[in-house]
Amino acid sequence: MTDNPRDVKEFWDEKYASFNVNEEVEGDLDLANQNINLKGKRVLIVAVGTGKEVVKAARAGAQVYGIDISSNAVRNAQEMLIANLLSGTMVVGDAAKTSFDTNFFDVIWGSSVLHHLDHEKYAKELDRILKDDGAAIFVDEATFFNPLFKYTYEKLFGKGRVGRRRKRWIFKRRGDDFEKPIEEADLTNYEGQFVIESIPCKFMFFEKIAHVVFPGNGKMYALVGRIDSFLHYLLPSIKKYSYEYNFIFTKKKKVDN
Ligand SMILES: C[S@@+](CC[C@H](N)C(=O)[O-])C[C@H]1O[C@@H](n2cnc3c(N)ncnc32)[C@H](O)[C@@H]1O
Repeated sequence: MTDNPRDVKEFWDEKYASFNVNEEVEGDLDLANQNINLKGKRVLIVAVGTGKEVVKAARAGAQVYGIDISSNAVRNAQEMLIANLLSGTMVVGDAAKTSFDTNFFDVIWGSSVLHHLDHEKYAKELDRILKDDGAAIFVDEATFFNPLFKYTYEKLFGKGRVGRRRKRWIFKRRGDDFEKPIEEADLTNYEGQFVIESIPCKFMFFEKIAHVVFPGNGKMYALVGRIDSFLHYLLPSIKKYSYEYNFIFTKKKKVDN
């Protein structure tokens, strides 16, 4: 967590203050092409956000649990489950420090949340609560794997996790004060206990810049996104510099002495 965890909680409580509990939830949980049947599995949704992913997991027949630092997000998720005639166990807290039992979950799933967590602490917590034959799936995670993006971002807003600028010239940084796109160095925290598969999502560079320059302008994102698609078409190998990645964590086999 941050030096001042209340900042992060307040930031997200404000975001999730109003919410339409009756909003239609469509589609399945994005398992990043992993062949996993959630029926009967104990599944933890890390950062329940709007609650939609909790509903998707419960609909797939999972025994669903959820955690979020924001009490509004947790309330929304609970109400959304009820509105969809489903059930689950939702708790407020830091995902990197939970009170779940050891070796408890078959699947731990999150979207756009890993880059919010304290990796040193979370690596230990993930290892503790995930079963030895379980899998943790994190989708649509922001990364700094594109050095040009990392350079531009850090020039505008500053380095590290704490004390960065919110605004420079016309550029605004969105998000809470602790989140930071994932770097290779962050993943080393997990490499002792886990095998990590890193899968780039669609190539996004100029579209990400558009998110900063034209916040909330979906039409502009789509327009600029075409440049990214064209670049990727010309040079397929640039996909490794995608902004978003999916990560699959499985536990390394323990060696008996
Ligand atoms: C970018 S949102 C993603 C939410 C949701 N997964 C989605 O895709 O809509 C980040 C989420 O992480 C939660 N969060 C931030 N730090 C957290 C922490 N340390 N522990 C648990 N949840 C956290 C926020 O409250 C928020 O719901």
